[in-house]
Amino acid sequence: MDLAVLAQRLAEAGQSHLLQFWDQLSPEEKEDLYSELESMDFTEINGFFENAMMTFTQGHQENVDARMEPVPREILGSVTRDVESLKDWEEEGLHCISQNKVAVLLLAGGQGTRLGVPYPKGMYDLGLPSHKTLFQIQAERILKLEQLAEKHHKAKCCIPWYIMTSGRTMDTTKEFFSKHKYFGLKDENVIFFQQGMLPAMDFNGKIILEGKGKLSMAPDGNGGLYRSLGAHRIVEDMERRGTAYIYVYCVDNILVKVADPTFIGFCVRKGADCGAKVVEKTNPTEAVGVVCKVDGRYQVVEYSEITLATAEKRSPDGRLLFNASNVANHFFTLPFLKDIVNVHEPQLRHHVARKKIPHVDTRGNLIEPDKPNGIKMEKFVFDIFQFAKKFVVYEVLREDEFSPLKNADSQDGKDNPTTARHALMSLHHRWILNAGGHFIDENGTRMPAIPSLKDGTDLPIKCEISPLVSYGGEGLEEIVKVHPEFHPTLVIDERGIHEQVSNGL
Ligand code: UD1
Repeated sequence: MDLAVLAQRLAEAGQSHLLQFWDQLSPEEKEDLYSELESMDFTEINGFFENAMMTFTQGHQENVDARMEPVPREILGSVTRDVESLKDWEEEGLHCISQNKVAVLLLAGGQGTRLGVPYPKGMYDLGLPSHKTLFQIQAERILKLEQLAEKHHKAKCCIPWYIMTSGRTMDTTKEFFSKHKYFGLKDENVIFFQQGMLPAMDFNGKIILEGKGKLSMAPDGNGGLYRSLGAHRIVEDMERRGTAYIYVYCVDNILVKVADPTFIGFCVRKGADCGAKVVEKTNPTEAVGVVCKVDGRYQVVEYSEITLATAEKRSPDGRLLFNASNVANHFFTLPFLKDIVNVHEPQLRHHVARKKIPHVDTRGNLIEPDKPNGIKMEKFVFDIFQFAKKFVVYEVLREDEFSPLKNADSQDGKDNPTTARHALMSLHHRWILNAGGHFIDENGTRMPAIPSLKDGTDLPIKCEISPLVSYGGEGLEEIVKVHPEFHPTLVIDERGIHEQVSNGL
């Protein structure tokens, strides 16, 4: 330990306060703090702070808002307007998958602060009849898609699954997958890697201490992806496996069509190097980013950065002007991703989130501030759209594809476990109806196709279809042909049909 050298580096960076409690620390605490500080590049961190503050100071967003334009029709594909092309796009996507050209990349380094669980969000049990977690549902969708591609193209294939975690979520995530035997996937095709962390800073650029010997650290945002792909040589691994297209998504959407072949096929057929999936935004204050154009380049303006006046703007037809909600499903070609990692990553600026950050005062007492006292710096995954040579947007239906888990059930009733569970069961209910089946109650009476919510707290029809049985509603006609009537609670999984007449799981 060369404390003098470290102290000198800190002094040069204006961060000497980080050692102010040194003499009061235990030998272990000293060792931990020393090794953390020693590995940090303060010149770089100070530079991030200056750039971030310069870009995201007040007044900046009004400027961006004034230059925002909606997504033009010519780059937009739609599940409702392009019905005649959907089959072709799906075929294209399945073909790419069968040729081992598609990899999936999951962003799972978030801390799930709003949900309030002390473990990674993907491990959350949503209270479905099967009690599957988000990770299991996503793993099974990948497995099923591999099977579908194999069946269509008679070629054994694999979709590698890259999972980005953070320092806080890595060990628990890995243990969870190992305990569950990778949910049937081959462990060599599930690749974990860790994103970077950054310290929280006060408004003067001083790194915040959350304990006498502990910095306040947080993951560097889901755009930390690009730096960590470089650090862990993931692009090289993709090249080695023959990957050509990458499907990137966030962990929290229960309806996510992982590696969606139709979306991938659409992007491939359009010759795009980058694509984004959207649903229509209908509420100006919904916590979603909007895809738009600024100065001729595509980008997402995040919900935390758009002004209310702009979010409320409407088109002559009454719809929101900026209505292309980012559902955090992105498509990249490998050359595009490689370029980002090797060339453009350093050009991405950190966004600033003003936060109430617990910290110690000069006497070492812990303070829980009641107003923002500092910032967290995060890069955003979509900030690379600006570098695309051909960018496309694919619009899907919210009720089929988007129901994110953000909040705990006790909060405002939005984007919570109940809404997520309902969204999945209602989708699966519709799959059964579309396949020609129907539900009957305990008296044998046919239940209405559009069930009314009992008391707003639960759906009357509980129905869950395992992804191992159906990826997107396909293949159910065969089952319904021999078994057209179902009692809720209904679970259809790889072992068969399970009905529990009471509906009270
Ligand atoms: C995100 C999108 C937003 C979109 C919304 C849809 C970003 C920056 N914002 O917002 O435009 O409309 O989802 O639900 O993508 N994560 C990391 N590392 C981090 C931080 C987050 O991997 O450092 C991951 C999380 O685990 C999660 C995803 O990124 O899978 C999204 O993070 P979250 O903070 O929930 O994003 P939102 O603010 O909801």
